[in-house]
Amino acid sequence: MLAPVRIDLPGVSDDKRIAVVTGASAGIGEAIARRLAERGWRCVLVARREDRLRALADEIDGEVELCDVADRDAVGALATRVLERHPAVHLLVNNAGIPARGDFLIVDLDRIQRVMEVNYLGGVWCTRALMPALETAAKEGGAHIVNLVSVAGTAAFAPAGAYAASKHAQLAFSRSLAAALRGSGIRVHSVLPGFVETEGFPQKGVLKSPLLGKFVIQPPRVAKAVVDAVEKNKAEVTVPWFPYRLVSIAQAVMPRVVGRFSGMSDYRPGSIPMSTEPEPEDNARSLSRPTHSAKSGSTRE
Ligand SMILES: NC(=O)c1ccc[n+]([C@@H]2O[C@H](COP(=O)([O-])OP(=O)(O)OC[C@H]3O[C@@H](n4cnc5c(N)ncnc54)[C@H](OP(=O)(O)O)[C@@H]3O)[C@@H](O)[C@H]2O)c1
Repeated sequence: MLAPVRIDLPGVSDDKRIAVVTGASAGIGEAIARRLAERGWRCVLVARREDRLRALADEIDGEVELCDVADRDAVGALATRVLERHPAVHLLVNNAGIPARGDFLIVDLDRIQRVMEVNYLGGVWCTRALMPALETAAKEGGAHIVNLVSVAGTAAFAPAGAYAASKHAQLAFSRSLAAALRGSGIRVHSVLPGFVETEGFPQKGVLKSPLLGKFVIQPPRVAKAVVDAVEKNKAEVTVPWFPYRLVSIAQAVMPRVVGRFSGMSDYRPGSIPMSTEPEPEDNARSLSRPTHSAKSGSTRE
């Protein structure tokens, strides 16, 4: 493990800073946990694939928690276990998420429901369940919540309609939570990445596009933006700023033009594999998770 770099954080004075990172078994969440560990945080790694989490925990001296964030009871039990070990949690990163590619007319109905349950409600359940630990940290000096949203939370991206709807809900949650917690010592940060190459969100089709391909980034860049948002107390960060912030502004001021452009993009069924979400290994299958029939244009969990 790398020697940790200790830095001052606004509002966090505790020597043993605890971060709970959901979706830490892959992609952006894994990169966030690595970066936090380098900065001196102890990470509680949450996801469903145990072997992945254990390998990362060994590497960064973290802790493993198996949980389906969409399962409210499971999240309650997770919070009880975390609180027993850590009465104060200084950072919660709501990162666990799944794709739902294809427009609203073709995506499997179960998938439309599931993407809301994981991407939006999963963050709500984790935040509410861990609130006592965040409040304890706030009393000791400060706490932070980061919600990993997406540019799709500001722009209605037709080729991933149900995903965009879940991210719009998540961004509304994040912004309203920030307002509700103002003055409480718990700061809320929304991080909105553009296209990021990960196993759950392979950007093959986007990378083929001469225009969009230039703007696909890797998970460590998002991890840096997350840690910067906490350390520098940024409320809302788009990563990378260009061109994605412009997309969000364009959606607000000229929605018809954005609608026409997103309909023409190469990011649509057929241009990208639709069944690429990682299948959890057997050891994680015991967690309660719904199964889905593979219909046209649906992804699989
Ligand atoms: N990649 C992009 O282009 C992009 C762009 C903008 C925003 N984002 C957002 O960034 C976040 C991370 O995405 P990623 O690209 O890193 O995807 P990824 O590589 O597929 O990783 C997703 C992570 O979420 C976990 N997860 C999924 N469903 C879960 C559930 N029900 N309960 C607990 N954990 C769950 C997965 O672990 P298990 O399977 O082991 O449970 C995995 O660790 C998501 O919220 C996504 O919407 C991604």
